[in-house]
Amino acid sequence: MNESTQTPMGEAVRDAMGEQIKHEFYSAYVYLSMAASFEAANLPGFAHWMRHQSKEEMEHGMKFFDFLLDRGEPVHLQAIDAPPHAYRSALDAFEQALEHEKEITGRIHDLYDLAVREKDYPAQVMLSWFVTEQVEEEKSATEVVERLRLAGDDNTALLLLDAELARR
Ligand code: FEO
Repeated sequence: MNESTQTPMGEAVRDAMGEQIKHEFYSAYVYLSMAASFEAANLPGFAHWMRHQSKEEMEHGMKFFDFLLDRGEPVHLQAIDAPPHAYRSALDAFEQALEHEKEITGRIHDLYDLAVREKDYPAQVMLSWFVTEQVEEEKSATEVVERLRLAGDDNTALLLLDAELARR
């Protein structure tokens, strides 16, 4: 391949973004695993929500992938861990989803801090989209967690929420 003629990225930011591709695709795996569990539990609305979320995570991974390529940087994809596959209840799955999003928020903030320290201005602009997106991600998972807590052991409420999430 030709040597890049663009302003090079610092190694630290490049490596951290490469790592984040893996975390975004791992997130896609986590939600796909949850989708499978919901399908098996005859809750197609929750499964639909999770499938939709899984696709969004792949798009997030591709944003990092394309950003590195646009900057003329190499992309070395890393192995993705196996996700969990056993959930005690719909609430358990969504609580785990929310915890997972909080962890991703922390990773995005660390990446942003790194881009600031390294004076990587394009990376800061690109990452600011993710900072905002994480607010939305935590909000949408929190909404479902709170409604599942309201539903408690009421299966009718659970089925109503399932029907609503099918329209996501
Ligand atoms: Fe890519 Fe759900 O954050």
